[in-house]
Amino acid sequence: MAKALYPGTFDPITLGHIDIIDRALHLFDEVTVAIATSAAKKPIFTLEERIEHIDKIFEGNKKVKAIGFTGLVVDLAKEQESNILIRGLRAVSDFEYEFQLANMNRAMSPDLESVFLTPKAKFSFLSSTLVREIASMGGKIESFVDPIVMNALQEKFKK
Ligand code: COA
Repeated sequence: MAKALYPGTFDPITLGHIDIIDRALHLFDEVTVAIATSAAKKPIFTLEERIEHIDKIFEGNKKVKAIGFTGLVVDLAKEQESNILIRGLRAVSDFEYEFQLANMNRAMSPDLESVFLTPKAKFSFLSSTLVREIASMGGKIESFVDPIVMNALQEKFKK
């Protein structure tokens, strides 16, 4: 059974991330969304909240699982017995960083394969930071995130 890991910060998960997960499900039997604590990014949602958003969005879909992790993604992959890492490529500007990550991960774990998927063009400009900024200023975010995340963001920024 081919099990893929999709690591990221997901603060919060956007429709662009969901698009990547849906595409990965066409290729692999199971997708584990691995949510990094990413303390340096100072996430606005706790790890538990980010896991809960993904659990709720994919409720009823046994092929998608959300877990939190700290430490190296290569160690997590070993622990999860997966040798496939999914990453999304939105634009050429993502490439350099992703190329670096993939090669560093390969240097540490030669059997781990990074697989890059591209989201629909309409999501190519999307980022969690922009969604958070728009939500914090009362802007409309319904075309960028699932309603579960939209409500969570509105709750977070309620005055
Ligand atoms: N749709 C919308 N947005 C997307 C997207 C998509 N399909 N794909 C990426 N993004 C955005 C994210 O929202 C995020 O935006 P933000 O920076 O504004 O929050 C940005 O692109 C990149 O984020 P993400 O994909 O979550 O990656 P990351 O850089 O935050 O996390 C990890 C990268 C967690 C995978 C990486 O740091 C890691 O592996 N950490 C573990 C420690 C480790 O192993 N380090 C050594 C690595 S060699």
